Amino acid sequence: MCGIVGFTGEQSAAPILLDGLKKLEYRGYDSAGIAVMDHGCISVNKVTGRIANLCEKTKDGTAVPGAAGIGHTRWATHGAPTEENAHPHLSNDGRFAIVHNGIIENYLSLREELIKDGYHFDSETDTEVIVHLIEMYYKGDMRDALIRTTNRLRGSYALGVICSEEPGKLYAVREASPLILGVGVDENYFASDVTALVNYTRNVIYLEDGEFAELSGNSVKVFDCLGKPVEKKVSRILWDVQAAEKGGYEHFMLKEIMEQPGAVKATISPRIKDGKIVFEELKLTAKDLLRIRKIVITACGSAYYAGCAAKYALEKISHIPVEVELASELRYSDPMIDNHTLLIVISQSGETADTIAALKEAKARGARTLAIVNVVGSTVAKLADNVVYTWAGPEIAVATTKGYTTQVAVLCMLSVWFADMMGIEDENYPKYVKELQALPRMIQHAIDMNSSIPALAKKYHDSKSLFFIGRNTDYAVSLEGALKMKEISYLHSEAYAAGELKHGTIALIEEHTPVIALCCNPAIMEKTLSNIVEVKSRGAEVLALTFRNNQKIVSVADDLMFIPKVDPLFSAVVEIVPLQLLAYYVAKENGCDIDKPKNLAKSVTVE
Ligand code: F6R
Repeated sequence: MCGIVGFTGEQSAAPILLDGLKKLEYRGYDSAGIAVMDHGCISVNKVTGRIANLCEKTKDGTAVPGAAGIGHTRWATHGAPTEENAHPHLSNDGRFAIVHNGIIENYLSLREELIKDGYHFDSETDTEVIVHLIEMYYKGDMRDALIRTTNRLRGSYALGVICSEEPGKLYAVREASPLILGVGVDENYFASDVTALVNYTRNVIYLEDGEFAELSGNSVKVFDCLGKPVEKKVSRILWDVQAAEKGGYEHFMLKEIMEQPGAVKATISPRIKDGKIVFEELKLTAKDLLRIRKIVITACGSAYYAGCAAKYALEKISHIPVEVELASELRYSDPMIDNHTLLIVISQSGETADTIAALKEAKARGARTLAIVNVVGSTVAKLADNVVYTWAGPEIAVATTKGYTTQVAVLCMLSVWFADMMGIEDENYPKYVKELQALPRMIQHAIDMNSSIPALAKKYHDSKSLFFIGRNTDYAVSLEGALKMKEISYLHSEAYAAGELKHGTIALIEEHTPVIALCCNPAIMEKTLSNIVEVKSRGAEVLALTFRNNQKIVSVADDLMFIPKVDPLFSAVVEIVPLQLLAYYVAKENGCDIDKPKNLAKSVTVE
């Protein structure tokens, strides 16, 4: 995810900005830049790749004079990772520079309007519209220009702004993207993450959504969205520097689990406009979709399980038959794929060797291809005919969490979009849209409802084997839950379709064998309940995942985890969250290296 820093004071700004950017490197980025103000001029330096390149270009900042400036690390979203697309962006008249984290959802219409008004664009970013709006609205009063500009923006943004006519001043704006002010002695700062500040000051002010700040070397003023001054409390950071790099979390995995409401929101909300699901990035027409006889989903690991979970929604809502194939199998299976097939390929990294090979194989057989990818500009994204990006931000922990949930969210949205594009009349359409919009909130509830998971982990952490069972989507989520458990806690864990137990696996159930039973689909609840009774009568300890008021399951299970009520077609996005937390806390109990499990790599670029 992108990072922001800002500094104003008496010292040279560039070295401090570069140091702050280095502290934000862990978030992942593909380009970086700084803009520094000196004697009424703004100079901008940008590079692709590492901060080291920016240090080299600016001689560690010593070649850039000026005591106020802003800096940015960019994780490409709109537009490839190039110097033009890197931040800071300058206004056409060179008087304003900005850095931005977040996504401007209405940037296309603003861009068109600004082009008509004579502004030219140097980048493909959504961000650039903001700096041109500021130029348009600035009539000698930055606060007024910022209020007018932000009134025009839809989406999420943390902004850092400088104006050459206001020497020594920085402006910071926050809306649904983190931004923190650092209060020093004769110097002040802002950053998207305290990591960039703790070397300089531990006194911080947390901006709220809708607030903006004006900083100079010796003053910090905060205003609400109407420009009324707001009294803010200065808080003291007590974390050590290393902990702050994980945003205060002990592990990246836990941080990424907690980021899921935001990641899923960033993935879903720009694609719902006026109550309709829209995929502006897709080149598939109604005619193309009506020619499709089947969808083949291919991927590896958790991305494959995301496909397994979404198969139910895709078939039920879009009425297109779906096959889900492991990429490592599909590539060597002489697959029945032709020009009536839509191949959906899923990959967080976009660099997984087997996934790339399966995609190439399907293309060679004439399939239309659509990739669901997190890393912008990755190989899978480049090879596929169509790309839908998940906006999960960089995933650092090896075990995927927000990568998986955002993938399933995209597939659920595609189910509804395909059906709508193909003219399938569905009275449930408005309900589906509402359910999808509610998913980020439901994930947050699932996190909040499960404070007992650390205690459950203490009970189950030294089990020999764990079995996960469920039916339909519950089964698909069990597969991912069992994978999470085995890869980070090294416990043997297997997922079974609940109805399959008595065809063999039940032989392994003995006194105190943990069985994690997923029961989140009311239509088949009774069936899974029978399987719970079967394993319990052989001594199993049942940890059930269900709704809080589901008395039938609550009364029979030994232990419980909960989710809020969600349409079973989309519930995988929510159901997986308690299982991620369970795996995390079991691994923690077992003293495992959670973010870097043994033998595993984040991106599997070899076969
Ligand atoms: C498990 C995990 C892996 C990946 C798989 C595919 O937690 O992260 O199973 O899902 O290696 O990786 P991508 O999605 O990058 O293609």
